[in-house]
Amino acid sequence: MLQVKIEPLILVIFGASGDLAKRKLLPAIFDLYHQEYLPENFVVLGVSRTRWTDEQFRDDVFFHSEFMKLDEVPDEVKTSFGDRLFYQAIDTNSMEDYRMVKDRLDSLDTQFQTAGNAIFYLSTPPVLYDKIPEYLAHFDLNRKPGSYRRLVIEKPFGNDLASAKALNISLKKHFDEEQIYRIDHYLGKETVQNLLVTRFANGVFEPLWNRNYIHHVEITNAEEIGVGLRGGYYDTSGALRDMLQNHLMQVVAHVAMEPPISPSATSIRNEKTKLFESLRPIAETEVAKYTVRGQYMASRIRGETVKGYREEERVPADSKTETFVAVKFFIDNWRWSGVPFYARTGKRLPTRVTEVCITFNQPPHTLFRRQQEMFESANNQLVIRIQPDEGLLLRFGMKVPGEGFHVKNVGMDFHYSDLSENNVPEAYERLLLDCMKGDATLYAHGDSVEYSWEFVEPILDAWKNDATIPIYGYPSGSWGPEVADNMIEPGVLSWRNPCRRLTEDTTCCEL
Ligand SMILES: NC(=O)c1ccc[n+]([C@@H]2O[C@H](COP(=O)([O-])OP(=O)(O)OC[C@H]3O[C@@H](n4cnc5c(N)ncnc54)[C@H](OP(=O)(O)O)[C@@H]3O)[C@@H](O)[C@H]2O)c1
Repeated sequence: MLQVKIEPLILVIFGASGDLAKRKLLPAIFDLYHQEYLPENFVVLGVSRTRWTDEQFRDDVFFHSEFMKLDEVPDEVKTSFGDRLFYQAIDTNSMEDYRMVKDRLDSLDTQFQTAGNAIFYLSTPPVLYDKIPEYLAHFDLNRKPGSYRRLVIEKPFGNDLASAKALNISLKKHFDEEQIYRIDHYLGKETVQNLLVTRFANGVFEPLWNRNYIHHVEITNAEEIGVGLRGGYYDTSGALRDMLQNHLMQVVAHVAMEPPISPSATSIRNEKTKLFESLRPIAETEVAKYTVRGQYMASRIRGETVKGYREEERVPADSKTETFVAVKFFIDNWRWSGVPFYARTGKRLPTRVTEVCITFNQPPHTLFRRQQEMFESANNQLVIRIQPDEGLLLRFGMKVPGEGFHVKNVGMDFHYSDLSENNVPEAYERLLLDCMKGDATLYAHGDSVEYSWEFVEPILDAWKNDATIPIYGYPSGSWGPEVADNMIEPGVLSWRNPCRRLTEDTTCCEL
C-alpha cells in the first residue's frame, strides 16, 4: 500500500505519439490509476507534432491500444481514465508553440484543480532534450511558486562525456538538480533494488562483501534477439553505449557502493557517485587488454538461419559497431582493492538474461584435494538474477553421500515468483510513482552519469582511433567471441554462462 500521498498533478508527455509512450508509459500510468495510486485530480497531457485531437489520442494510446489490457477492467474505470487524457499538437522544435502548452496547462489546472503541479516527461528523440526545457522556461513553466515542476529525461543521456556534460549544463540553466529525474529503467526493477536489501539487510552477506572474501564479480546481460529493425539507431550507438555505460554501470554501483547512511535519495545517490569516482580509468593504451568487442555473424539457431549484424537492415556492410562487449575493470577503494569486476553485454547470445554473479575465494586450505577427480570447483557463488526467473542462488560444495569425501556443487535458490501474494510492479510504474512522490532515489544523478561516461570514453576513443584493436566475429547463438571466455582465469575460471532458469547453467539453453 502506498505510504506517501500523491499530490494532484498534470503529467505532460512530450513525444506522446511515440513508441515508448504507447508501449510503456501509458500502460504504466493506467495500471497506477487502476490500482488507485493516483489522486482524483490527475491529468495526462500528451504533446507531439502529430495532428491528433483529444479523442484520437485517447483511442490510439488507450481505448484501442494493443498494449492495454482492458478486458477485465470495469467500464466506469476505463471511461474515467479516458476522460483524464488530453492532447496538444505543437511543433516541438518551435519555441513559440510552447505558448499553447502553457495555455493548455493553465486551463487543465483550473478545470481539474491540479494545484499547479506538473511533471514534464521527455519521451522524444534526444535532439529535443535541451530544447524542450529551454522552451518551457521561456514561458516560465519550469517553476511555479507553491507548486512543483519536475523534468523526466529518457535515455540516452548524452552520446559521450562532452554531450552528457553539455546536456547537464543546459538543463541546469532552467531546472535545479532536484527537479531533474534521469531515467534508467533498470533502476526501477525490483531485483536491482533488492541488491541493496540483499547486501544491507542481511548479516550473513555484508561481512563477506569485500576484497577479503570475494574473488571476482561478474555482471552479464544477454539478449537473444539481434537488432531487428533498429539497425539504423543501433549502429550509431553499440553495446557499450546502449547497455554498459548506463544500465550495467548502475548495477555495478548497487553491487559495490558503500552502505548509505539512510535509504534516502541523497544518501544513496551520494554513495553511487563516490563509487563511480573510484572506478580505475582504463587508459586508451590498455583498452585492448581490458576489453573484448564483437559482432554477431550469421548462423543457424534451432534450425533457423539468422542474419549477421552487417547484413541487418540499415547497418553498413563495413560497420565496426560492437554488438558484444566485455570489460574487466577495478574499483580503487578500500573495499574492492584488487578485486576484478567483469561486465559483458551482447546481442544474439544463447538466451535473454541479466544477472550478477559473485564468486567467493576458495578456502585457504582444501582438505579434499585427494579426491581431485570428484572435486568440483570449490568457489562458492552467489547469483543475483535480475531477469528473468528473478531470484537468488547460492552455490556451494556438499559431500556426495557414500564413501570418501567427494564434493559436489549444489544450489540453494529463492525465486521472486514464490512471493505470489505480491504484485511486482513494472519498472516504469515504480519510477513514475517515485517521481510523483518527489523521490529521486531510483533516478541517476547528473554527476554519476558524467563519471560513468568518463569511464567508458577512453574505450570508445581507443576503438575509434586504434585500428589494431580487433572486433571479433562471433556466431549468433554463442556466448560472444571465444577470446572473452579467457578473460577471468584462463583454463581455471570462466564466466558463469547462465540459463533462462536461475538454477540451471547454460546447458539447458543449448542450441
Ligand atoms: N522505445 C523504447 O522502448 C525506449 C526504451 C528506452 C528509452 N527510450 C528513449 O525514449 C525516447 C522516446 O522513445 P520512442 O521509441 O518513443 O521514440 P520515437 O517513437 O522515435 O519518438 C517519439 C516521438 O517523438 C516525436 N519525434 C520524432 N522525431 C522527432 C523530431 N526530429 N523532432 C521532434 N519530434 C520528433 C514523434 O512524435 P511527433 O512526430 O508526433 O512529434 C515520435 O512519436 C527516445 O529518446 C528513446 O531513446 C525508448
